Amino acid sequence: MTQDELKQAVAQAAVDYVVEQVPEGSIIGVGTGSTANCFIDALAKHRDRYRGAVASSEATHKRLAGHGFTVFDLNDVDKIPVYVDGADEIDGGLHMIKGGGGALTREKIVAAVADCFVCIADGSKLVKTLGKFLLPVEVIPMARAHVARQLVALGGEPFWRQGFVTDNGNVILDVRGLHISDPKTLETQINQIAGVVTNGLFALRPANVLLLGTVQGVDKHG
Ligand code: A5P
Repeated sequence: MTQDELKQAVAQAAVDYVVEQVPEGSIIGVGTGSTANCFIDALAKHRDRYRGAVASSEATHKRLAGHGFTVFDLNDVDKIPVYVDGADEIDGGLHMIKGGGGALTREKIVAAVADCFVCIADGSKLVKTLGKFLLPVEVIPMARAHVARQLVALGGEPFWRQGFVTDNGNVILDVRGLHISDPKTLETQINQIAGVVTNGLFALRPANVLLLGTVQGVDKHG
């Protein structure tokens, strides 16, 4: 099975999960990235079952709207039973690194509102310890150099993601070499640096369920 086929398989498993677990008329939280795109495309068949969706990025908003979903502003929504999104890495405790596509801040906000975070990932994303994937940090542009120095002090090697501006008008530093043995503490430490909007560790709010695509089929964790 190719990586794309694994993504399709986990996306379909997530649609089955949503159809089974989430009441009709709900608003669904939708993530960003290639795996989330497969989920959107597969969910489109069931569009009329739901009131609509909240998007974690402009790209996801566009794709949802293209399928005819009503896309709500998060400020107009007080309940999201489920949020479905991919990850760049996920560990056995369902802590994740996200933000490879640069949508980490809106993803974290929608995930914070959701009752249940369903992570969909192909088997290559499951790791013992987070940190091989460079950790994305969204930064207010004027703070870029300051934040970079603070990340070096934490043991990391930050790289400015060239030519990239987030949906919120900010920049991304991708950090290599961080030793992520305690993801919750590191998530908190990085978020406390002045100028950081948020970082791509999702440990304080991990996934509740992982649907992992392997050649043997889709495994459910959590
Ligand atoms: C977007 O910013 C990310 O958090 C994505 O959820 C993550 O990069 C996974 O993307 P893929 O599904 O494309 O691997």
